[in-house]
Amino acid sequence: MKDALGAVQSVLVVGGGSDIGLATVRKLVDRRCRTVVLAGRDREGLEAAAKELRARPEAPVVDVVHFDANDVASHQRFVDEVFDAHPDLDLTLIAFGVLGQQPEAERDAGKALQIVTTNYVGAVSVMIPIANRLREQGHGTLVVLSSVAGERARRSNFVYGSSKAGLDAFSQGLADSLVGSGANVLVVRPGFVRSKMTEGLKPAPMSTTPDGVADAITAGIASGATTVWAPGALRWFMAVLRHLPRVVFRRLPI
Ligand SMILES: NC(=O)c1ccc[n+]([C@@H]2O[C@H](COP(=O)([O-])OP(=O)(O)OC[C@H]3O[C@@H](n4cnc5c(N)ncnc54)[C@H](OP(=O)(O)O)[C@@H]3O)[C@@H](O)[C@H]2O)c1
Repeated sequence: MKDALGAVQSVLVVGGGSDIGLATVRKLVDRRCRTVVLAGRDREGLEAAAKELRARPEAPVVDVVHFDANDVASHQRFVDEVFDAHPDLDLTLIAFGVLGQQPEAERDAGKALQIVTTNYVGAVSVMIPIANRLREQGHGTLVVLSSVAGERARRSNFVYGSSKAGLDAFSQGLADSLVGSGANVLVVRPGFVRSKMTEGLKPAPMSTTPDGVADAITAGIASGATTVWAPGALRWFMAVLRHLPRVVFRRLPI
């Protein structure tokens, strides 16, 4: 339950090793968040992140839990165990995702399925039981890392873009379904973020950092926003791109 000043006191990061996820958690811990659950596949990496968080002056309690987005059969149990161990979770951040390799994915269905299964199927599978728990507890925010890539699928990464378009649409519908329950959803649409995911890639215009996205997320939580862009100017850029006639859109080197 948020404290008297509205600060988030407990957070679950699904995809706990995410650079954006961890940057967000550091900011929340600086603002009095007392309990952190990092869920993911890489136990060693998550334990290292947990150690770093526990060593901060605020010394939060940090748990590490196994989670694999592709193991959909385990998701209900995963959610039950985390919410039973940590009742009244204030914030859940859906931070897992894979970028994949577009040239391979558009020719090899198996590679494309790896991307859409993790980013879309895995997210739907875990967000439904999470939303049920938020309805039951009558409060809590579900923060979902969507992407500008889902706003209009581009030739250069349409497999990933389509997975984020699906996730974004699902999250918006879920947000509407939660109205009146006390729970809410914040959809986050970052542009190019210089994180592990984009290592070795040339930064796109208006690129940002995990810290920049974390600032947008914490500001969005504080204001009760339903959608945030990171950086904010991308909202207007994408509004134009989205409405370009296809004949013009196809000529762009994107
Ligand atoms: N970076 C960008 O430019 C950008 C832009 C827009 C949106 N986003 C989105 O923001 C989110 C976080 O990205 P990031 O930049 O922080 O990248 P990141 O540091 O690479 O984090 C991605 C995380 O997803 C986890 N993951 C991947 N597949 C998984 C699976 N099957 N089960 C559980 N965890 C899995 C990875 O864990 P492992 O170590 O186990 O692989 C990793 O911790 C992603 O959804 C991404 O699509 C990123």
